[in-house]
Amino acid sequence: MKEIVLPVHIGFIMDGNGRWAQRRFRPRAFGHRAGVQNMLKICEHAFELGVRIVTVYALSTENLRRPPEEVEELFELFRTYFGKKRARLLELGVKFNVVGDVSPLPEDVQQSLVELAEESKDFQKGLLNICLNYGARQEIVRATNAAVAAGRFVDEDSFKELLMTGDLPDPDLIIRTGGEVRLSNFLLYQAAYTELYFTDRMWPAFSRRDLEKAIENFSARERRYGNVRGSKA
Ligand code: FPP
Repeated sequence: MKEIVLPVHIGFIMDGNGRWAQRRFRPRAFGHRAGVQNMLKICEHAFELGVRIVTVYALSTENLRRPPEEVEELFELFRTYFGKKRARLLELGVKFNVVGDVSPLPEDVQQSLVELAEESKDFQKGLLNICLNYGARQEIVRATNAAVAAGRFVDEDSFKELLMTGDLPDPDLIIRTGGEVRLSNFLLYQAAYTELYFTDRMWPAFSRRDLEKAIENFSARERRYGNVRGSKA
């Protein structure tokens, strides 16, 4: 890879698992299983390249409205990877953090998430945020209510602290696979100046080289944050 500016924080909207599977005449669950494998591969590569924070959208608040069989299959996948195959996640050498309201998840899954965070808390290679039952609008409403309940006025920075991502730096780059061009309620406040990258590649087929291309594309962009070129202000 040529000399590049690396994003510190990348978000992934891992879309296209179901379609990837259906095109292969396989059930959607097959796509979700391939999706987790690919998540491990792509996160590993991102951290190897030097990215410090990765945030994955593993389950949106709206995903819970899918047919119960599909929701159950996703829960089963969480049970497997946060539970008996947890070593596969821990091998990444990064700290895990859960973002979202996990209360509707099965209790054993919630428990294994607590263990995953505890077991990885001293890991140094980076931070992997897993968004589960996460929705940005819900997050913003919750933060607003927290400020109101505390009788506090907020500014941009103190409001950000009340969000579920707390004091984490905002994502520099969000990559969405699967061909749709929208954020689907992902990190709406945090993404105000995030560079967005959309690809038609379905998530299970998104490769290490695709990640590098997205980063190269990011690196070639000029981030002005509403300012003009060359200004130091
Ligand atoms: C969107 O694809 C993807 C999801 C709803 C789930 C993504 C979850 C994973 C990749 C698994 C995460 C697992 C762990 C253990 C963190 P889609 O089903 O909407 O695909 P489609 O748009 O083709 O139907």
